[in-house]
Amino acid sequence: LHRPGPAAAGWAQDLRRSALEDMLVATARPDVISLALGLPCEDLFPTAEMGESVARVLASEPRALQYAPPLERLREFVAGLMETRGVRCGPDEVFLTAGAQQGMSLLTRLLLDPGATVVVEAACYPGFLQALAPLSPRIVAAPSGPERGLDVDALERMLASGLRPALLYAIPDGHNPLGVSLPAESRKRLVELARGHGFPIVEDDAYGRVSYDDDGAPALRALDPEWVFHLGSFSKTLAPALRTGWIVAPARFHRALGSLKESTDINTTTLGQRAVADFVARGLFEPHVATLRAEYRRRRDAMLEAIERELPEGSRWSVPRAGFFTWVELPGGADAMAVLRVALERERVAFVPGEAFAAGDAPPARSALRLNFSHGSPESIREGVARVARALGAVSAREATHG
Ligand SMILES: Cc1ncc(COP(=O)(O)O)c(C=O)c1O
Repeated sequence: LHRPGPAAAGWAQDLRRSALEDMLVATARPDVISLALGLPCEDLFPTAEMGESVARVLASEPRALQYAPPLERLREFVAGLMETRGVRCGPDEVFLTAGAQQGMSLLTRLLLDPGATVVVEAACYPGFLQALAPLSPRIVAAPSGPERGLDVDALERMLASGLRPALLYAIPDGHNPLGVSLPAESRKRLVELARGHGFPIVEDDAYGRVSYDDDGAPALRALDPEWVFHLGSFSKTLAPALRTGWIVAPARFHRALGSLKESTDINTTTLGQRAVADFVARGLFEPHVATLRAEYRRRRDAMLEAIERELPEGSRWSVPRAGFFTWVELPGGADAMAVLRVALERERVAFVPGEAFAAGDAPPARSALRLNFSHGSPESIREGVARVARALGAVSAREATHG
């Protein structure tokens, strides 16, 4: 009797490698300028200082390599750090995680029953959709755009016509991929809708501190400590390799979160937590964030200037107040996938086409692209945008010829 090998669960069988993923493998080639990935700049990592912190921890804490419960003094620091986001919370509300990504994986499992409905923005961070996939919820996309972010009026109409979400996922600051920050008025109304209709918001604040204005609006959690679950991270302010982030959530959820967390990875990296705690205790964190903001602002400005100079009339783009990306909408219904093919083959530049961020039943943004400005130098950003413009020009010329 021939038995076929074991089969993965249905949701895993539905995962398909996309043509886009195949294409993006090409971005690893050294001659390609990548505006595609969302990596922080390696030159800005506090490598020497973090090395000192690791050495100090290993020399002074015999259990630094052991399994360990969450580090109390790091929870205290994070509670203080939340004040910079307008949030007042105690250390007992801070739940340490291996990054914001793990936070979303834990929160979706905490909050969703089988068959639940989840609302996301029409252009969505794919990592959140990955966290949802094994739970197979119904995913409903709310309209969202690069100018004003989540369309709260549209969401209100959807709720009025019977939508009953079990959770809504939002990135109010430095949106990935839209590069937009939600206006203060929309924040207020969004939180009112959550309270009024009784659904929790998962607020992804991965980029909240990487902001380019001093007058950013407070995080959603500042407006409601009950309905907003807040995700934070040291990935963009220190380094992703530390795998250290947090959830701010009412203390009554922490026992269940702890059980989910333990089943996933037992505890957040003991050494990483202690190294971060030592780094912040030496007073290095805020000056480092200030340096990052100035550097990333320079790169953002280089990108915006290059876009303005190089892209054809009728293009529209977001002006990011925070985060690592800008979102460009090409004029005349240009096909961003076709532009990407030419960009990779002929111009040696990569970006992510908007359709990669399509969620639920939302129509994919076929004429849009996400451009990253955190990773490359201002010079390579300028050159990269010029190459994208040439690729777009080539595709438009071809279409004009072939009708
Ligand atoms: C919107 C968003 N959330 C979360 C993450 C993951 O962050 P972390 O490294 O803290 O898990 C990223 C990383 O790119 C992101 O863009």
